[in-house]
Amino acid sequence: MIDRNTIEQIMDTAKVEEVVGDFVALRKRGVNMIGLCPFHNEKTPSFTVSPAKNLWKCFGCGKGGKPVHFIMEHEQLSYYDALRWLARKYNIEIKERELTNEEKEQQSLRESLFVINQYAQQFFTATLQASEEGKAIGLSYFKHRGLHDEIIEKFGLGYAPEKRDALATAATQAGYNADLLAKTGVCYKGEDGKLKDRFWGRCIFPVHTISGKVVAFGGRILQNNPKAAKYVNSPESEIYHKSDHLYGLYFAKQAIMQKDRCILVEGYLDVISMYQAGIKNVVASSGTSLTTGQIKLIHRFTNNVTLLYDGDNAGIKASLRGTDMLLEEGMNINVVLLPQGEDPDSYAQSHTTEEVEEYINRNKVDFIRFKTNLLLNEVGEDPVARANLVGDIVKSIAVIPNEILRSEYIKKCSEMLKVSEQLLVRETAKIRIKHNEEMQKRQNGTAQGEEQAAAADDAPQPAPSEFKQNIIDSYSNNPLHNKEKAIIQFLLRNGDKLVQVPENKSANTPAFTETVISHLYYSFKDDGIELSHPLYKRIFEEASQHAADINFNPERHFLAHPDSEISRLAADLCGERYILSKFFSEQANGGEERNEMAILFEQTTRLSIAYKHSIIDEMLKETMAALKDPATAADASKAMEFMEKFKFLKETQQALNNLLQFYGFGSAALNV
Ligand code: CTP
Ligand code: MN
Repeated sequence: MIDRNTIEQIMDTAKVEEVVGDFVALRKRGVNMIGLCPFHNEKTPSFTVSPAKNLWKCFGCGKGGKPVHFIMEHEQLSYYDALRWLARKYNIEIKERELTNEEKEQQSLRESLFVINQYAQQFFTATLQASEEGKAIGLSYFKHRGLHDEIIEKFGLGYAPEKRDALATAATQAGYNADLLAKTGVCYKGEDGKLKDRFWGRCIFPVHTISGKVVAFGGRILQNNPKAAKYVNSPESEIYHKSDHLYGLYFAKQAIMQKDRCILVEGYLDVISMYQAGIKNVVASSGTSLTTGQIKLIHRFTNNVTLLYDGDNAGIKASLRGTDMLLEEGMNINVVLLPQGEDPDSYAQSHTTEEVEEYINRNKVDFIRFKTNLLLNEVGEDPVARANLVGDIVKSIAVIPNEILRSEYIKKCSEMLKVSEQLLVRETAKIRIKHNEEMQKRQNGTAQGEEQAAAADDAPQPAPSEFKQNIIDSYSNNPLHNKEKAIIQFLLRNGDKLVQVPENKSANTPAFTETVISHLYYSFKDDGIELSHPLYKRIFEEASQHAADINFNPERHFLAHPDSEISRLAADLCGERYILSKFFSEQANGGEERNEMAILFEQTTRLSIAYKHSIIDEMLKETMAALKDPATAADASKAMEFMEKFKFLKETQQALNNLLQFYGFGSAALNV
């Protein structure tokens, strides 16, 4: 861990034109510099560097941020490793937070396990390439499967000999500790107390972490033998949690970024054969359905996923599990079915790169359409099964975060399923409400666990593509999020400044001054308001904790935030056009000379009232909808209840307007 002061020092020292200039040819244009974006293909430069703001931004692909974010993206490093990279460049000494003894032990254990895995991988490779048994059995098997030498080497493939303790013996003789060998799972202690090999008589596929360290192995049996498992895999260990890894990602990540698409297949050989055929943006879930951890890994690099399935129907339904999670992450998914009897491995082995690419492009179907068709074929005319099917599809649509996309899918499915759009809209809304409640619960429950995971060395870290602009944009269909964005931007600029709150005789409070942050904080807290966007909410809450701290500089604080997701968002907001400039300049202040504190009070108040207005607008919409619902109309007391609520909300809005009048701000437009 790097302490906050050091992070700030690095952030202050690293000059964007120097850091970016190491990788991109920049030329001056006005106060800025421009160049060709290294993150997407372009012929005319839309990549802009602002030395004054110390920010970079590509107007083509939307990526941007501070120098550190450039290094994260370009070098595919975690936030902390990117900071270390910059520290080296600028000769800044890093004061890493002193680890506790327990942490040190943990860390050295993890390191040792990686060392053991590295040894085992070299052992398997050497056996494959140099031993008689390895060459005759292992290597000839790989050759028979159509793999070339370079690819066998690149993926670190190996062979575990028939002898039950070949690795165990070699490793202990080389001085490796028996307990550690057992802890990585490459060996285990037999009932007789002797150390034995987990893998024997199998060809070996090492599994790499995203940074290229060997974290586990898969061993494939060579002959078909119905009595033995086709694959033996490393067990879960101190360093290996199956659900956090994707086979092939280390080799695919660069291509995934370049193509802005990840192709998902099932098996080790599918990945390797596709790679050999020149399609490199391929990873495998290794036969199980996708986990959230794996999806987050993919999302670091792209928003677009193509599921590439075998032509036979059997596996498809099982593979559909987990895909709702992809939708939920806001990813675009499409599905490609290979011709009957083919899998990605066989197809890639018998076709050229162009043919495979063309097949994929020609046959990809968007996911919702694919699922709908698949299920429709299955249920036929049975009405009960059809109703269940609608429920199933609606569930998939409901988790899509982007509202526009959701409504497009609803339209499409209403046609395909011959169900009214209205019904689909209503069902989706129901699920979303329930889902939100569950998410809330889940978030509260896992906060601690995530912190622990973040401390682990090779645990997935928040990284570049996770903050792709479109993730932030996926919130901006929501009118509340737009307002919240303005509030956070305002807070970053002005949060530490003082506002002068005038005397309020009717509430019996004298005039006083406080910071913008604490003014907003109490203004929301008194009304029980919490920001709805999770990131904005976190920033707001963290800023509130510093409300009374005179040395607190919100912009500096959040730009150098230990959580790269927050630091990236802060960089985005600081670099963006000031949302409120138009809003505030529209309010003439009557030529009156006023001090900054009074102006800030007005701006803060307007902002908070505008936000509350929007919240009530949303509630009014809901109430209106409830009133229109035939179920309400049929129930007089319910209808009455909603009418009361409607009236109350209207009065509250009026009260907010009155407050503006009271302070003498008029009731100017509240649109941000
Ligand atoms: N798998 C596994 N354990 C098994 C079977 C499968 O872990 N007993 C995982 C492996 O990661 C495998 C993937 O599921 O790569 C897909 O399984 P399958 O299609 O059966 O294997 P392939 O790797 O495609 O092997 P092959 O082409 O040689 O049949
Ligand atoms: Mn296969």
